[in-house]
Amino acid sequence: MGDYRFVRSGPGAQVAGTGMIIAVDGPAASGKGTIARALAAHYDLPHLDTGLLYRAVGMAVLEAGGDPASPEDALHAAEHLSSALDVPGLKSEAAGKAASLVSVHPDVRAALLDRQKRFANQSGGAVLDGRDIGTVIAPHADAKLFVTASAEVRAERRYAELRKMGLDIHLDAVLHDIRARDERDSARSTAPLKRADDAALLDTSELGIEAAIAAAIALVEQRPFSAAND
Ligand code: DC
Repeated sequence: MGDYRFVRSGPGAQVAGTGMIIAVDGPAASGKGTIARALAAHYDLPHLDTGLLYRAVGMAVLEAGGDPASPEDALHAAEHLSSALDVPGLKSEAAGKAASLVSVHPDVRAALLDRQKRFANQSGGAVLDGRDIGTVIAPHADAKLFVTASAEVRAERRYAELRKMGLDIHLDAVLHDIRARDERDSARSTAPLKRADDAALLDTSELGIEAAIAAAIALVEQRPFSAAND
């Protein structure tokens, strides 16, 4: 593949050869994580899956026997979060649900803010994926993608993953959980799941993994984005 190293021009120009900040947001099971990892590999940038931070907080609350819906329990866990994000079980549905519950609390979001901003602003650039990267963590990102897919397609993907893991689960239940998570993540008052005005929309409903990655790279190459991209 060609050399896509980013060279910024105009006001605030960076030195040629330094990296860019790429923000990838979107709902659960939209493919944003896969796309973010692929962009990081393609542009040789470090990557942070910010959902893991909220998942780690949610798991810590559950393990302490607390309630993820309690602001006090969730803040205590966020303030004592270890730097390691390779805890077993973080990718489970239980951790995802707990993450969605703790992420509603403004104090929890504030406690995790600095770590994410430092990652985004490290010299050399970075790719971050989550819900509020383009709107809150890195509103100055060089490229912003909002990755989405229909709730039905996302539920089918998640269902296939869970079946592969040997879980006995119904598609209807997965779809119900996806819709509940969308609703909670979008309706919260602090940093809700929302497409930034200057984010390019990437709908992966009809795309396989390779096509979605190719489309994401094409969009990054095409920046700055405009509504005409929709
Ligand atoms: O991306 P994920 O499914 O691993 O995220 C789990 C939950 O964490 C998600 O439902 C909402 C929350 N989250 C958030 O509020 N902000 C982020 N930047 C990332 C995740």
